Amino acid sequence: MLELRGVEVSYGAVEAVRGIDLDVLEGEVVALIGPNGAGKTSTLRAISGLTGFRGSIRFDGIDCRRLSVQGAARRGLIHVPEGRRVFTTLTVHENLLVGTTARRGRADAYSLDEVYELFSGLAPLRRRLGGALSGGEQQMVAIGRALVAGPRLLLLDEPSLGLAPKVARSLFAALRKIAVRTPLLLVEQNTVMALKVCSRASVIVNGRIVLEGSAAELADRQTLVASYLGEEPAVAAVTSDGSG
Ligand SMILES: Nc1ncnc2c1ncn2[C@@H]1O[C@H](COP(=O)(O)OP(=O)(O)O)[C@@H](O)[C@H]1O
Ligand SMILES: [Mg+2]
Repeated sequence: MLELRGVEVSYGAVEAVRGIDLDVLEGEVVALIGPNGAGKTSTLRAISGLTGFRGSIRFDGIDCRRLSVQGAARRGLIHVPEGRRVFTTLTVHENLLVGTTARRGRADAYSLDEVYELFSGLAPLRRRLGGALSGGEQQMVAIGRALVAGPRLLLLDEPSLGLAPKVARSLFAALRKIAVRTPLLLVEQNTVMALKVCSRASVIVNGRIVLEGSAAELADRQTLVASYLGEEPAVAAVTSDGSG
């Protein structure tokens, strides 16, 4: 349903994305994993029309260059940007209602009740203002608002960023349920969690895809993936304990 070919994004002299290919098929969850500054957000912004690009991006066969940002959203390409933007002066429930206005009769929209079921922590907070929510709660509202808009493909930009591990785990548990029903393109730095949700993943470093494969293949090569993200491999960290 989504096809990127030779996509490049530049900001003046900065080449943020240097020719990437990426596909999301019907019913699939694909993760785009990479360190800070790798070009993940730029890729998502190109897909949803928020930034210019070279190369080709097609959604349901339609050239995304011909779609406005609103046109893409109307077709069900829904983007949850970095930094979980909620309306701080609206309540949780009002924030979700805003999402329903973007539905445009698409049958695949989640109901408000389904959102409160998925994110059970939000149910008691219906009347709380967006600005009074924790980071994790705001992320749930941001994703909930996208779900009630009726996504055919959900673009998620680093949903776990800045969340405590426990909060991130509960968020990912909800994402696994969402993934059964809704195709996702998930951008993450949290490799371990991303690989538990996705069917396939690509690793992006410095604007280029350096590794791709099924979630199982990449989980098997966790040490290599971690090295691309500039992380201490978990295994090495354990063994180095004894070696002094
Ligand atoms: N608006 C911008 N103007 C100039 N450079 C930018 C802009 N946005 C991103 N960049 C640069 O593009 C590169 C990729 O950024 P980004 O796509 O945000 O990466 P990621 O989401 O993987 O952290 C980085 O070097 C970043 O500094
Ligand atoms: Mg980013």
